Amino acid sequence: MLFQKSVQLRAALFGFLLLCAAAVQAQTAKLPNVTILATGGTIAGTGATSTTTVGYTAATVGVQALINAVPEISKVANVTGEQVFQIASENISNEEWLKLAKRVNVLLAQSNVDGIVITHGTDTLEETAYFLNLVVKSKKPVVVVGSMRPSTALSADGPINLYNAVRLAGDPAAAGRGVLVAMNDQIHAARDVTKANTTTADTFRTAELGMIGVIQGGKPFFYRDVTRKHTVDTEFDIAKLDALPQVDVAYAYANVGAVQVNALVAAGAKGLVHAGVGNGSLPAKTKPALIAAREKGVVIVRSSRVGQGIVARNGEANDDQLDFVVADTLSPQKARILLMLALTKTNSTKEIQRMFSTY
Ligand code: DGL
Repeated sequence: MLFQKSVQLRAALFGFLLLCAAAVQAQTAKLPNVTILATGGTIAGTGATSTTTVGYTAATVGVQALINAVPEISKVANVTGEQVFQIASENISNEEWLKLAKRVNVLLAQSNVDGIVITHGTDTLEETAYFLNLVVKSKKPVVVVGSMRPSTALSADGPINLYNAVRLAGDPAAAGRGVLVAMNDQIHAARDVTKANTTTADTFRTAELGMIGVIQGGKPFFYRDVTRKHTVDTEFDIAKLDALPQVDVAYAYANVGAVQVNALVAAGAKGLVHAGVGNGSLPAKTKPALIAAREKGVVIVRSSRVGQGIVARNGEANDDQLDFVVADTLSPQKARILLMLALTKTNSTKEIQRMFSTY
């Protein structure tokens, strides 16, 4: 009798456990599959004390520790983590961009990956985001995220930024919008966002064109979309590239001469972005060096250090006559990225100007 009772109890317990397993499986099956690719930065940084918000060490915490520090993530997505590299982002190179972009494209081609989050230092976050915006070949969400306070700080912004980024990357509403930057509860388009403050948590801004959405209570709300081509609609393909053409930026200011331009050309620049003053103006002492560079085959793009607004073609310089390109509204650092990719396809300034009007 006792034996029979024991068997019945075990059977009931086994049945209950099976039901629990099925419920967990069903719940997991409903959650999006999000891969977190970690690259370093402050979000992975540590400081000596909880009030150390400057003078900390970036890129010390590994991807699994970042995920473990936010257990809420496992309730909203099936998350896997990969440490692609571990650097402070001021040190990121073209080679690391190519490695990251290739990994993103391999993962997004897999049916079991619904979205990707990239944790990244904020210093060059906007550049990596724009590079990926031009070379990722999927409509699935790619969200780049960082933090302004290290993981050890009071009110560290990394955990909530990471949670929000995972929610965004797992949300179908984020698909087809190009690469997104999610920081400080805001959603920005990769093309137009920039780091606007050296240390504050609200540093990522899209000054005149505005953020494209907000994350509230973990849910994304979109209010506008991007108009320039990105991801699957671009003509750039880095799958077979092991390097990118050397493109540099020369920065204009009062009393500037030709030293920067001449040095960059001598160092092998194939393209040169001139961060002009105002509407992309060319100082008289710099202009001859740019003309000489163009005569050597270097492609010249006129951008502006101002940060907002369109650099008008044939405005402050006769671009038609000089055979220069203008950067539209792209910042010098982003114009450099587009020019690098353009030079993997063509040296035609007519074609490159089309690209600056397209992306
Ligand atoms: N060294 C900077 C970087 O890795 C820290 C800034 C940050 O990540 O917020 O971009």
